[in-house]
Amino acid sequence: PTPVLLDCDPGIDDALAIAYLVAEHLAGRIELTGAVCTAGNVGLEDTVANACAWLDLAGAPELPVAAGASGPIAVPHVLTPETHGPRGAGHAQLPTTTRSTDPRDGARLWVDAAREHPGELVAVVTGPSSTLALALELEPALPRLLRRLVVMGGSFRGHPGNTTPVSEWNVDVDPEAADRVCLAWEVARADDPSVAPARWCGLDLTERAVWTPERSGRLVEAARGSTLSRHLADALRFYFEFHESVGEGYLAQVHDPLVAWLALHPEAALTEPVHLRIECAGEHTRGMTVEDRRGHRGRPANAELVVDLSVPGGAVAVVEEVTASIAN
Ligand code: BDR
Ligand code: CA
Repeated sequence: PTPVLLDCDPGIDDALAIAYLVAEHLAGRIELTGAVCTAGNVGLEDTVANACAWLDLAGAPELPVAAGASGPIAVPHVLTPETHGPRGAGHAQLPTTTRSTDPRDGARLWVDAAREHPGELVAVVTGPSSTLALALELEPALPRLLRRLVVMGGSFRGHPGNTTPVSEWNVDVDPEAADRVCLAWEVARADDPSVAPARWCGLDLTERAVWTPERSGRLVEAARGSTLSRHLADALRFYFEFHESVGEGYLAQVHDPLVAWLALHPEAALTEPVHLRIECAGEHTRGMTVEDRRGHRGRPANAELVVDLSVPGGAVAVVEEVTASIAN
């Protein structure tokens, strides 16, 4: 099975990504090598505690969890308790975990996992790129060691941001880190064109992954009321309230499980190669993903934007598949 590493900041939709990847791991379809936690939606202590609790609930208490970056690499960390709840798990009261975290820090786990599976590891980032940027410092050859990197981040092709008019949250938190990822893939591909461009899934795609209260009900029922599914439903209730408060309706956009699914189903992605950089300076545009679709910069592609899905039913069908996988 394909080895997979998740770097996340749970986070309510991150929790769905964790539950999905663990389900695929337990079914023997992938080998989840561990979870790296990055400070993001909430502080590092909470993202680590949440990742441990979700992995335990999902039935993978043995998988390593490593604490990564405690904030952005160049600027102070801005928390958003209104999005995922004060502790990042919405209304869920997660059990306190008794497991210990991996002694290695998150950047080290990235590098070790990549070196253990050279050319094989599929890495998924569903939070800010802060820990990945640190891992690239430790091991600049990381892009060459990975089979594929799939990032939830950005907003492409003129789609609006969810944090500023032009920026998506994961990139907005740590634009310098996201830009380092772009540069690292540019350098790696210049040295070795066989390195796969990093795959970026922006809001233009992920906002189509909608989770409804009805789906939570079906998950709990299909999972025969498991503790995991009940906690997920409690967490998601908060996410519905948040989306309603920003005028999206009583539903939730579940970006991260869609991206986790895409990491395991690369053939389902319709992609556009681009040269990607992140705006780190602009007064009005900091955190914007600036994709060169017409070769203005004269640089080879360092990124592939996932612009659509080739599956019938699109993102909603993927959410259905994710639900079924978690419920089983
Ligand atoms: C991203 O921001 C976070 O709040 C979500 O977990 C997702 O990773 C969407 O912009
Ligand atoms: Ca996230």
